[in-house]
Amino acid sequence: MIYLNGRFMPIEEAMVPVLDRGFIFGDGVYEVIPAYSRLPFRLAEHLRRLQNSLDAIGLKNPYSDAEWTKLIAQLIAQNAGEDQYLYLHITRGVAKRDHAFPKVVTPTVFMMSSPLPSPPPELKASGVTAITTQDNRWLRCDIKSISLLPNVLLRQQAVEAGTMEALLLRDGFLTEGAASNIFVVSQGVLLAPPKNNLMLPGITYDLVLELAAADGIPTRVGPVAEATVRAADELWLTSSTREVLPITLLDGQPVGGGQPGPLFKRMDALYQDYKATVMRQPD
Ligand code: PDD
Repeated sequence: MIYLNGRFMPIEEAMVPVLDRGFIFGDGVYEVIPAYSRLPFRLAEHLRRLQNSLDAIGLKNPYSDAEWTKLIAQLIAQNAGEDQYLYLHITRGVAKRDHAFPKVVTPTVFMMSSPLPSPPPELKASGVTAITTQDNRWLRCDIKSISLLPNVLLRQQAVEAGTMEALLLRDGFLTEGAASNIFVVSQGVLLAPPKNNLMLPGITYDLVLELAAADGIPTRVGPVAEATVRAADELWLTSSTREVLPITLLDGQPVGGGQPGPLFKRMDALYQDYKATVMRQPD
């Protein structure tokens, strides 16, 4: 069951007019929220980022946080599976094609749920592969925009190279992955690119930094040079759907010892513990 403009319905029945500005211009924003044991994970943080994305594109939030929370609970209840990921999508709505904002328009609101499998243990045990490529996206990568063509093309490059993710470099510095944030471990320190207009402020990114601080892992948030990425002892990717995964092969070269490193194992344990705690004590 999906949600579209005020109604829950089977996905087959959901229709959006072709003049929707999401379809015509990619004029909208989205969120991806994991739910574990039917409880949305870090919901307040996701709703805050959604608000920031809406503010950035000058679109009024169609619902209050309390309304979103209720709708999300209904969506989870109407779909199978203890672990689901929720996709929220808001466009500027349906209007005659004209780049400028329409004067009067009702936003289109769409939500769907998909099963959320835990990352396969083999992936955590062996790590995943990635390539590097130039970050050729726009300068507002902090907006979770539905205009994902650049990310689609970058991710496709990774897939065509037989790998899972593309690590993006802009002006000699790491920004993020095509659909993830990236962490670097160098000489026992966890390095993370700074949150700015060049990357999406990941909810998982924030959580990893929080968990690292609470566990006394030395951390440095700041520009990460390409040379540091290539000489890394460990590389991780993070996202709401993939949690934390080790990257063990970059551009065909082993990362560190070519195996998931000790700090990854420590972080994964912290992350799984945190998940379990939150699932026992819903907020
Ligand atoms: N993407 N950077 C980009 C470009 C992303 O697309 C994502 C996640 C992230 C990680 O953010 P978070 O930890 O909040 O999931 C970083 C989602 C999962 C997607 O588009 O499907």
